[in-house]
Amino acid sequence: MTLEDKIDKNRLPQHLAVIMDGNGRWAKKKGLFRSKGHENGTKAVREVVEACAKLPIPNLTLYAFSTENWNRPKLEVDTLMRLLVSSLKKEIDTLIDNDIKLNAIGSLQSLPKKVYNELFDVMDRTKSNSRMTLTLALSYGSREEITKTIKEISLKVKNNLISPSDIDEEMINNHLYTHDLPDVDLLIRTSGEQRISNFLLWQIAYAELYFIETLWPDFTKEHLFEAILNYQNRERRFGKTSEQLYP
Ligand code: IPE
Ligand code: IPE
Ligand code: MG
Repeated sequence: MTLEDKIDKNRLPQHLAVIMDGNGRWAKKKGLFRSKGHENGTKAVREVVEACAKLPIPNLTLYAFSTENWNRPKLEVDTLMRLLVSSLKKEIDTLIDNDIKLNAIGSLQSLPKKVYNELFDVMDRTKSNSRMTLTLALSYGSREEITKTIKEISLKVKNNLISPSDIDEEMINNHLYTHDLPDVDLLIRTSGEQRISNFLLWQIAYAELYFIETLWPDFTKEHLFEAILNYQNRERRFGKTSEQLYP
């Protein structure tokens, strides 16, 4: 029985989020430039995207570039942006073949024109696909997202469109970049770091967290299946007692 066969297809996470970390360290270990780590990271992206679509996991969100990543050396930022354009061009057929819809979250207007245009082109060409929604978090920061949400809601209050008592969790949710996605069920971070790094703070309120030492370019579908099996063995109580869940 393979790892994949052991997965209960009726209890798959409905939203899997991944912090793809460790590209730089992977390259350093091999005596290569950091850019080689990012290049090899794209192979892991393809493997994970295809495996998730096959299961299927209906929503996969990948942290590709954070608001803080703009502070990296310009050369590295440029390499990452170039890699994004070439990957989007290269992967469009994979997305279409696997019935995957591309989505993006983050402060997208901060992206270079070339990236922005390619991204919106691929999103447009895959908009009717329905097997899986693949969301790329690009120039994404959770604090930026929450700040934007507060500004938008405040403006509605100021213009008397709503009153403060109308503000509830659903309204906040509806203003987030992720408004059309369910809450995250499982969050995976590679490379051994055990932190969230400004990713989906609101949306992971009740997510199961899974940290793995493997560096992102070495991450395979077997690692993914192990993470899902681990997730399926957890008891998600959402504040209740175990007895309430299984009377
Ligand atoms: C993740 O790998 C990719 C991005 C953040 C864009 P890193 O580039 O952070 O790799 P490490 O953490 O330095 O090894
Ligand atoms: C988080 O990784 C962002 C992405 C994976 C895109 P970082 O490598 O930027 O995070 P920190 O700086 O180690 O927290
Ligand atoms: Mg890192």
